[in-house]
Amino acid sequence: MTVKTMQTADVKELLEKVAGFDQDGGNQRMKKIVHRVMHDIFQIVEDFDVTPEEFWSAVYYVGELGANGEAALLAPGLGMDRYLDIRQDAEDEQAGLTGGTPRTIEGPLYVAGAPISDGFARMDDGSDNDAEVILIKGQVTDENGEPLANAIVDIWHADTNGAYSYFDQSQSEYNLRRRIKTDGEGRYAAQSIMPSGYGCPPEGSTQQLLDQLGRHGQRPAHIHYFVSKPGHKHLTTQINIAGDEYTYSDFAFATREELVVVANKVDQSEVGAQHGVTGPVTEVEFNVTLVATDKPELQERHARQRALETDAA
Ligand SMILES: [Fe+2]
Repeated sequence: MTVKTMQTADVKELLEKVAGFDQDGGNQRMKKIVHRVMHDIFQIVEDFDVTPEEFWSAVYYVGELGANGEAALLAPGLGMDRYLDIRQDAEDEQAGLTGGTPRTIEGPLYVAGAPISDGFARMDDGSDNDAEVILIKGQVTDENGEPLANAIVDIWHADTNGAYSYFDQSQSEYNLRRRIKTDGEGRYAAQSIMPSGYGCPPEGSTQQLLDQLGRHGQRPAHIHYFVSKPGHKHLTTQINIAGDEYTYSDFAFATREELVVVANKVDQSEVGAQHGVTGPVTEVEFNVTLVATDKPELQERHARQRALETDAA
């Protein structure tokens, strides 16, 4: 049985009351958005003839999602983070601010306040003896290829189990998280360990929904970056290591061709040697181009809830 009630006066009046249209107080923008959201949910119930059983299982799903702390994991899985990036890319295009290294999603696992050093940092705490040692290196330049000295390269990545320090309390403080200030030639380097890709918790709410969509919940091995320098657009990006099973099928849609990096095994890294890293190592090179802007709001990362970030709005 299919009934149509969306166009009735009863439903229209209900939606207006739900959104507080008949009340003076509150936030006008929020009222309009909630009105649209609830209208569209009602419409979905009508169009798909959603049963009460289906509806209530969705309500309890949202409750469990929150209790599991997975809302910020489901969002990228449903393409939200990627969609916001697409919008920002379009805004950049409109403002004539295209070019430079592409942005991609931040993810929910950044922790503010990582140790900062000049030119080079060792990112791992040395506790994982079986890990593949990597030497991350690169240069930060502007669009004309001019080196950018004193840019802040803020890097974070997972360990060999695909887990992030802080969220994984078994790791030491700020393990695999460092901020590196570029040298006079705009160069930065870091010794670290090859991260593993990771998947959504198999029993979690995100994977539960992905299963219903016939999708996996895996991410390839990747390394996150914030790169900033006054006078330039803040860059949020990440590199995916080439050759991972999921390099091109990231469940979070973060892969961009320009951000896939081949890791090269070398007997001795020239850059590594300058920083006391000797012997066979896997080099990961990522050069970054920042776009100049005089708009202060574009020079800093956008406000969002982040671990240990105290100065965010
Ligand atoms: Fe990540």
